[in-house]
Amino acid sequence: MSRAITLALLAVVAAGLVVVSGIISIKASSGHWPLTAWFLDFTKRRSVATHAIGIRVPPLDGTSLILKGAAHYETGCRPCHGSPGTSPPRIPARMTAHPPDLRQQVPRWDPAELFYIVKHGIKFTGMPAWPSAQRDDEVWAVVAFLRALPELDADAYARLVFGGTGQRESIDARPASGETSAVLRLVGDSCQRCHGKDGQGRENAAFPRLAGQRAEYLRLALQAYADGSRHSGTMTPIASGLDTGLVRSVADYYAGLPPPVGSTGGAAVLRGAEIATRGIPAQQVPPCSECHGPSTHDRNPAYPNLTGQFAEYLSLQLRLFAGDRRGGSPYGHIMRKIASGLTAEQIEDVAAHYASLPAGGPSDR
Ligand code: HEC
Ligand code: HEC
Ligand code: HEC
Repeated sequence: MSRAITLALLAVVAAGLVVVSGIISIKASSGHWPLTAWFLDFTKRRSVATHAIGIRVPPLDGTSLILKGAAHYETGCRPCHGSPGTSPPRIPARMTAHPPDLRQQVPRWDPAELFYIVKHGIKFTGMPAWPSAQRDDEVWAVVAFLRALPELDADAYARLVFGGTGQRESIDARPASGETSAVLRLVGDSCQRCHGKDGQGRENAAFPRLAGQRAEYLRLALQAYADGSRHSGTMTPIASGLDTGLVRSVADYYAGLPPPVGSTGGAAVLRGAEIATRGIPAQQVPPCSECHGPSTHDRNPAYPNLTGQFAEYLSLQLRLFAGDRRGGSPYGHIMRKIASGLTAEQIEDVAAHYASLPAGGPSDR
């Protein structure tokens, strides 16, 4: 027995000496030995399979979910994993482990496993965790997109990510000068592929409309994303790259575009109108219109317009507020209690009501 202990101690000391001597190579340039690569891959598969047990998979076929995931992929994943129709990124290819082409890898994981990988990342490999711990819904959007990825060719990918014909359309900034041209370049290179050239969002409700929104609210929203007090793995990395001057001018730019016109709606709209104008006293929900309009009195410029916004976006934000997962500007806490006072149906109704209203009335400015 004592002999076994001595041997074990010797083995530990020997292993320690090997490490201290520095002969173990940590260089990425040579890759892993086949045995190491197999062992690490096996460990990863087992770990992911075990930790994904019990993760409930929501419906993943919505086109707006796939679009949202695709748009984020272009910002947050393509620089390492590449995309259909572009050659594999050269610098990440020299990482060990290197980011694989996901078209080949996705089929070996089920949705719960993909969710686990994208939410938590993979230790010691450079595969990052999702930038915002509160937003599982965004991670699911990426999973929805990943499932579609193996079938996508270059054109289909570009149409998802850039909209329309799939061409990356730059806004011509030549006639403008200084600050204006910086904003036009930013909008052309980044914002417009999700929020639309005219600020009206894309063909479905994946991204909020920004056109005609109040400048002060847009500015505070961008600041809140940047400092992490509003949670979004998609918007936080984008907003944190902007300096204060650019935040102000891009907020002014979108606030100055023609506002949305509103949509049609049925019975839900009428029920929602009741909530917006009278509130629900029995549930301590105040009338939304006091802060969000339409109303005849002046409103705090930091309080957003909701008129003409996509219903799907409004109801998502209300559910996030209610679950304390949205965060927001320094005024964001106001909504937490209000949203938790609403039932799931009331959230849909009031969202449908605001989506149906044309924006840009006197109380919206
Ligand atoms: C900084 C580079 C980097 C970024 C950004 C990145 N990844 Fe990765 N990813 C990696 C690396 C490296 C691996 C390989 C890990 C390994 O071999 O175990 C990986 C592995 C994966 C895997 C597992 C593949 C497999 O079969 O083992 C998935 C799925 C994945 N990434 C999805 C994504 C998604 C989705 C995004 C964007 C939200 C993303 N990655 C962003 C570097 C990156
Ligand atoms: C990859 C797609 C994408 C890009 C690019 C993008 N956004 Fe967003 N944006 C989103 C999504 C998704 C949301 C909703 C996030 C949430 O749920 O909080 C959002 C939300 C916003 C909001 C909050 C709207 C509201 O009503 O509260 C503002 C403001 C905004 N984005 C501005 C910008 C600006 C400015 C740019 C360019 C610098 C930009 N976005 C680029 C996807 C994008
Ligand atoms: C006392 C004022 C107040 C009342 C009443 C109020 N809100 Fe809000 N609401 C706010 C503020 C302030 C924000 C912006 C939070 C932020 O900046 O992050 C907001 C944000 C929102 C948003 C997110 C908008 C976006 O573009 O992301 C929705 C949706 C919303 N409110 C719906 C409602 C509904 C529905 C009601 C009525 C049931 C309501 N609010 C009542 C103050 C109010």
